[in-house]
Amino acid sequence: ITVFVPPHPLIKHWVSVLRNEETPSPIFKSAMAELGRLLMYEASRDCLPTISGKIQSPMGVASVEFIDPRQPVAIVPILRAGLALVEHASSIFPATSTYHLGIGRNEETLQPHTYLNKLPVKFPDGSPVFVVDPMLATGGTIVAAIDLLKERGVDNKQIKVIAAVAAPPALQKLSKKFPGLHVYAGALDPIVNEKGIIIPGLGDAGDRSFA
Ligand code: PRP
Repeated sequence: ITVFVPPHPLIKHWVSVLRNEETPSPIFKSAMAELGRLLMYEASRDCLPTISGKIQSPMGVASVEFIDPRQPVAIVPILRAGLALVEHASSIFPATSTYHLGIGRNEETLQPHTYLNKLPVKFPDGSPVFVVDPMLATGGTIVAAIDLLKERGVDNKQIKVIAAVAAPPALQKLSKKFPGLHVYAGALDPIVNEKGIIIPGLGDAGDRSFA
């Protein structure tokens, strides 16, 4: 896999706001949304299908390039915390289809369980698929999500994982199982503790956004 941490000061800024334990919930949520906007912008540089042609501007004929509306970006937010990170997806991209996945972790075993699956039977050929979850900790959740995409014929190279913070256990699992995958993260942190929380991380992203 390839892991990108885009070296942009705005990305560092919003990650820092998220890390601060004094950031209140509404600000946390909007910082997560801004971080998601920047990461999705970076991740979409090289994968948006376009249509080119000529168009008449008020002053002459210009060569133009539009995003192809027939190939919407497939957005897969992982509930709950992914909802905060994905908030601006439909304003960044001219065409999106959103497919929600609800995956929670058992607090003791840390095993993921899927409680909502709105994935389509088949994804459009070649469309980029953005899987959005703020925390890649033990990696159980993101692996379960991508397994569901693979069952629907999605190629590793179509998938971009968008995360606020990623940790080594998750990245190791992803690189073993899904070669060719691209991960875009706001930060990489070194440790996952015995409760499955990233250290120093930003706490429980779901609770801080919605509780
Ligand atoms: C958190 C987080 C990820 C998952 C990461 O979700 O948002 O989805 O844990 O952990 P893993 O890499 O060890 O699987 P949580 O289960 O707390 O659900 P929530 O988003 O509904 O709070």
